[in-house]
Amino acid sequence: MLKNRVDREIKTLYEMTPSGKKVCFMTGASGMLGSEIALSVAGQGYTVFFTWHASEKRAAETLEKIRWISPESQMVRCDMSKNQDIVNAFTAFRKEFDRLDLLVTSASNFFRTPLPDVTEEEWDSLVDTNLKGTFFTMQEAARIMRKQLFVSRIITMTDISADLVWRNFAPYTVSKAGIQHLTRIFAKEFAPVILVNSIAPGTVTLNADKEMESEAEMVKKIALQRLGDPLDIVRTIIFLLESDYITGQIINVEGGRLLQ
Ligand SMILES: NC(=O)c1ccc[n+]([C@@H]2O[C@H](COP(=O)([O-])OP(=O)(O)OC[C@H]3O[C@@H](n4cnc5c(N)ncnc54)[C@H](OP(=O)(O)O)[C@@H]3O)[C@@H](O)[C@H]2O)c1
Repeated sequence: MLKNRVDREIKTLYEMTPSGKKVCFMTGASGMLGSEIALSVAGQGYTVFFTWHASEKRAAETLEKIRWISPESQMVRCDMSKNQDIVNAFTAFRKEFDRLDLLVTSASNFFRTPLPDVTEEEWDSLVDTNLKGTFFTMQEAARIMRKQLFVSRIITMTDISADLVWRNFAPYTVSKAGIQHLTRIFAKEFAPVILVNSIAPGTVTLNADKEMESEAEMVKKIALQRLGDPLDIVRTIIFLLESDYITGQIINVEGGRLLQ
């Protein structure tokens, strides 16, 4: 009881120091949904240090917008499938910032892989970027967060497909299911100092893949009869940033798609 009170007082004191602006490390902020998440986190008062990989132009546009509200924000190139790149990104982060309040893992690879034809290269590309990359990013973040005198947060981005049996996407869906399990493992391991949760969106942005279902076909399967909007995800992020008693949870934001 006393320990809880003291911890809360230390947390409040730390957060009130003038140099105590909160800092977020985010992967995949050059993504369609990722860029909206990065902006909303900046809007919540965080400095954002984010990674991009191939989309330099989109990353630069995102950084420009973020800097209107959070001028110290930065970006770094990082291939999430390579552990050395992740280590280098955190080395660069540590040189600039002495605290880490929030990790959002949004970087993700996604493409169709019909089961009989999946190659080792495709498997590695999807599973290394999504699952292995998320694991080593969470590990680097936890190394910083566990030594801090205040509660910090990790939010992983997964997908409702972790709960569905999608044809043609085995490596992707397995990687997302793996991240959901990692979310629970990290939540247990690092409680009470790190709160670890996952957001699993339904379809928010439509994929350019012509063989995917049409929007009308998708909407038929959703109880709330519309695709997701980035704002639906952003609201859930903000909810998790304000919650002190939720950890190890997977929050499906899918308009009732899983009710089918
Ligand atoms: N959008 C949706 O409808 C939807 C639905 C369900 C789940 N989700 C999940 O929500 C998250 C955000 O989605 P999104 O719409 O932003 O996805 P997106 O537009 O496909 O963007 C993917 C992001 O991952 C990065 N990335 C891909 N391969 C990488 C690699 N090898 N190394 C480092 N970064 C890499 C991309 O960076 P570059 O572009 O710079 O290479 C980009 O920032 C993802 O985890 C996704 O799985 C999204």
